[in-house]
Amino acid sequence: MTTHYYTASSLDGFIATPENSLDWLLKQDIDLDGPMAYPAFIQRMGAIAMGATTYEAIHAEEDEDGWPYTRPSWVFTHRTLSASEGADVRFVQGEVRAVHEEMTAAVPGKDLWVMGGGELAGQFADAGLLDEVWVQYAPVMLGAGAPLFPRALDLELIDTARNKAFLCGRFRVKGAL
Ligand SMILES: NC(=O)c1ccc[n+]([C@@H]2O[C@H](COP(=O)([O-])OP(=O)(O)OC[C@H]3O[C@@H](n4cnc5c(N)ncnc54)[C@H](OP(=O)(O)O)[C@@H]3O)[C@@H](O)[C@H]2O)c1
Repeated sequence: MTTHYYTASSLDGFIATPENSLDWLLKQDIDLDGPMAYPAFIQRMGAIAMGATTYEAIHAEEDEDGWPYTRPSWVFTHRTLSASEGADVRFVQGEVRAVHEEMTAAVPGKDLWVMGGGELAGQFADAGLLDEVWVQYAPVMLGAGAPLFPRALDLELIDTARNKAFLCGRFRVKGAL
């Protein structure tokens, strides 16, 4: 079982604008059957971890089909948030280690996806629980926004690809820099 931080980023290292917009990302061309694309990635993931801001953005965009993920999701928050009926979402807070253990036990043998944001992925790395970082770089600079990873971290590049507009990199986490 490995834990992955898989995300898209601007070239200058932001995963959303200061207003939490993803318009710059959603307008990009991508081949969903192409290298390092999301559909093949999610097939391998058993469970998802995300922060409250990411959760609220997805929850706000839900259509009549409701929560879009079939994998169980752990949402980190200090607040009382609501979830749609039928959504397999658990609200948690505090140290990521205990939550990681819970996730691992819930989906034995499956990989875990830390969706973001960067600070939450950093908490998993701080605890030595982050194995890989996958970044799909979009051809934009945002200048400011939610950071890709507000930490120092040492990585090894293990794969690269171009997928239409995106420059994709897969990295193994070596540890603290
Ligand atoms: N480009 C992409 O592919 C991509 C991927 C993912 C997300 N995004 C976007 O990027 C932005 C990320 O926002 P963000 O950086 O603010 O990060 P976030 O991780 O989504 O949310 C941060 C919030 O999570 C809660 N939190 C984090 N760690 C916690 C802990 N250990 N215990 C309890 N609560 C904890 C806190 O919320 P409270 O204290 O307020 O409850 C914190 O303010 C969003 O706009 C999202 O939509 C983009």
